[in-house]
Amino acid sequence: MMTEKIPVAVLGATGSVGQRFISLLDDHPWFKVVALAASDRSVGQPYANAARWVLDTPMPAYARDMVIVPASTDAVQAKIVFSALHTEIANELEPAFAKAGAAVCSNASSYRRGEDVPLLLPEINAEHVQLVKHQRRNKGWSGCIITNPNCTSTGLTIALKVLDNEFGVKKVFATSLQALSGAGYPGVPSLDIMDNIIPNVGNGGEEEKVEWEPRKMLGTLSDETIELADIKFSVHTNRVAVIDGHTVCASVELENPVEPETAIQALRAYAAPLSARDLPSSPRPVIEVRDEADRPQPRLDRMAGNGMTTVIGRVRRDPILDLKFVVLSHNTIRGAAGASIYNAELLVKEGLL
Ligand SMILES: NC(=O)c1ccc[n+]([C@@H]2O[C@H](COP(=O)([O-])OP(=O)(O)OC[C@H]3O[C@@H](n4cnc5c(N)ncnc54)[C@H](OP(=O)(O)O)[C@@H]3O)[C@@H](O)[C@H]2O)c1
Repeated sequence: MMTEKIPVAVLGATGSVGQRFISLLDDHPWFKVVALAASDRSVGQPYANAARWVLDTPMPAYARDMVIVPASTDAVQAKIVFSALHTEIANELEPAFAKAGAAVCSNASSYRRGEDVPLLLPEINAEHVQLVKHQRRNKGWSGCIITNPNCTSTGLTIALKVLDNEFGVKKVFATSLQALSGAGYPGVPSLDIMDNIIPNVGNGGEEEKVEWEPRKMLGTLSDETIELADIKFSVHTNRVAVIDGHTVCASVELENPVEPETAIQALRAYAAPLSARDLPSSPRPVIEVRDEADRPQPRLDRMAGNGMTTVIGRVRRDPILDLKFVVLSHNTIRGAAGASIYNAELLVKEGLL
């Protein structure tokens, strides 16, 4: 039990991911929100005026009257800073906060590839958080930057972790169907996406992220770096007219091919590393495997485990590679705000704050 809550702030608090932070941090057992920051457009306004609330749960009372401050180290003083900033802004601001002593838990892609930056999904690679010790030595920071992956890498990598542990993964071919909330607010124009699928996500670079990030997270931590997993990826990313929840259809080649039933058993039996098991945001369970031929579906399954559980279905033989399956993950919870909060909890638990 924590006697005094840790002061935390949210940068980019009014956006799509920022709103999830506000919602998930309501009554958090360890963290207390002390500052909300956004752009000049919002600074000086109460949160309830600045944010166009889009979640289907009410705006938490604690946030309504908080006045938005600039995203600067002078205006924001907190032990943990959750960043829901766009990459180009995060590039500059996140190191400034780390230098000033804050633990920056970031959603942005800016530093995911940094050699001394942990890219974390605690339920599969909690040990990578130790890299912050090296980062602090390297940079001379008292704070640090830790990151969570792209929302499409998230569910896919959790599924691959189990298959790689048990049977060895050699190749992955995957196609995503990504929700609209992943594009932020206001996101994709309605006339572009209604009655449509867009076979390109963001301004490019999405496929490369999903082809690279899992290799880091499935990689091995040596003293000062991560050795990337030797797995080949080919990924297609598509935007579809779903509000929340990214689906990925994946086929994998295994070192030791197994029947689908054996893979299902392994997926169901998977448990997170001890250090990541009993944190406030730990997914319970880590993975849910559905037996029905038409699941997972975003509308029915995205809130499994409060949006933190990875839902897998349609595990079957692949006639070209070995196995194929469908994986679903809530993009703004497990894939974004929930991810950063879970990472921060791990940092605290490991005594690295
Ligand atoms: N959406 C997802 O599913 C998802 C998943 C994983 C990662 N991410 C990443 O998370 C980050 C945020 O994405 P989002 O979808 O939440 O974007 P968004 O809805 O466009 O929100 C952007 C936020 O940044 C603020 N902002 C803009 N310029 C700023 C500045 N100069 N200084 C301070 N704050 C500024 C905005 O404030 P104003 O309202 O004042 O303009 C807003 O709060 C991105 O890096 C994205 O790639 C998103």
